[in-house]
Amino acid sequence: MHKKTFFIKVWGCQMNLYDADLIRDILASSGFMPVDNEEDANIILFQTCSVRESAERKIFNHISLLSRRKRQLKNGLIIGICGCMAQNYASSLNKKYPDIDIICGPNGYIDLPNLLETALSRGKFGVSTSEDKRVAYPVLNPSAIKGFQGYVAVMRGCDNFCSYCIVPHVRGREKSRPPEEIYTEIKGLVDNGVKDITLLGQNVNSYGKELKTDFASLLYLLNTIKGDFRLRFLTSHPKDAEEKLFHAMAECDKVCSYLHLPMQSGSNVILEKMNRKYTREKYFETIDLARRIVPDLTVSSDFIVGFPGETNDDFEKTCDAMRRVCYDSSFVFKYSPREGTDAARLPDDVPKEVKEERNRVLLALQEAISHDNNKTYLGKNLRILVEDKSKRNPERLFGRTENFKRVVFAGDASLIGRIVEVKINRVTALTLFGEQINV
Ligand code: SAH
Ligand code: SF4
Ligand code: F3S
Repeated sequence: MHKKTFFIKVWGCQMNLYDADLIRDILASSGFMPVDNEEDANIILFQTCSVRESAERKIFNHISLLSRRKRQLKNGLIIGICGCMAQNYASSLNKKYPDIDIICGPNGYIDLPNLLETALSRGKFGVSTSEDKRVAYPVLNPSAIKGFQGYVAVMRGCDNFCSYCIVPHVRGREKSRPPEEIYTEIKGLVDNGVKDITLLGQNVNSYGKELKTDFASLLYLLNTIKGDFRLRFLTSHPKDAEEKLFHAMAECDKVCSYLHLPMQSGSNVILEKMNRKYTREKYFETIDLARRIVPDLTVSSDFIVGFPGETNDDFEKTCDAMRRVCYDSSFVFKYSPREGTDAARLPDDVPKEVKEERNRVLLALQEAISHDNNKTYLGKNLRILVEDKSKRNPERLFGRTENFKRVVFAGDASLIGRIVEVKINRVTALTLFGEQINV
């Protein structure tokens, strides 16, 4: 077995997908070799997430399993924990799991080659969990991305401190990347055949504050890159989403008509306790404005059920908001307290069964709304960027419309990565089905 083969297992948000590409790039340029199967690697890195207890529990289970494998193999397997749990638990992780060799937070990726070399040659444990805001990240080498979909971080960290959220604690303060650097990175990806690019930040609407620019200006700049590609972005914070952004979405032909605008709760009492800094009324105004300006806009959200003190009446207001906005899709999460956050000091007083019931009710409501929304596409011809073979039926392909609707149709795998036109003839809550139109 090659001494320096590595495999990265990724959990958590899209930022972790980008970070895993970055780590792969950093290690590959230092003589390490990425492999496609975990079994072929003698270095296994976990790119981890701390956002909810359930996410952490899964990852802890994997760490235990891997530690056991390392002891059984006795062949010097190297285990590295990277990303948000590395930052959150730092060296206490190593006390709990002595088989871990390195721990590397989101600001330490650049140190990984050294940490790994030391672990390999001297068997020494290494940690990198700097909180220094000045840390620089390398520009991603386009060849690090396989396929035609790519993620690009436009900023790091978060300054918002929503009371339930661990992200600002583990990712540090907000820092935007210079527009020229993002331009170069995306141009490189597009020239290498990437067709579907998602710009990432915890709150892209506050992009560029310290650089005296803003996110809308970045979109106009990136829209000048020549080539056949789509741009999407995640996540917008409702308190900062402004008219200028919606005009940029409408005017830039590369930017998709899709807005993920997490509402979290429909109750003003809960929104205040969450430190979200907007009211439900202000949120509705923002959505109405976006829909007036951006044609064919689809909208999605995140909701948390069972936040401390959430009453039936608060929850009803969330259901009402979901109906009012008529989202195309939503993620629903059961609240879990995160140590170190402000909300963790409040009693976690909504019983587990109530959280589960509210989760079920809200998901069912979203499903009904999504299904109704999708019916409006029946009989229409849509342009689809083909992503892959359908998992359920390999004879079929799936792709997405410009506004992020998932479409399944019968077609040949040679169409993957291409744009085709499909006529919709059946819909469910999650998917539109149709037939390719020959052009
Ligand atoms: N910056 C993004 C994403 C943050 S994490 C944003 O502001 O939307 C993704 C989602 O996880 C959040 O939108 C929230 O709905 C959920 N989440 C965060 N902390 C949580 C917690 N302690 N319990 C349950 N859900 C949580
Ligand atoms: Fe967390 Fe709020 Fe920042 Fe999103 S905006 S990452 S929910 S603190
Ligand atoms: Fe999780 Fe960190 Fe993303 S906590 S949601 S991986 S920023």
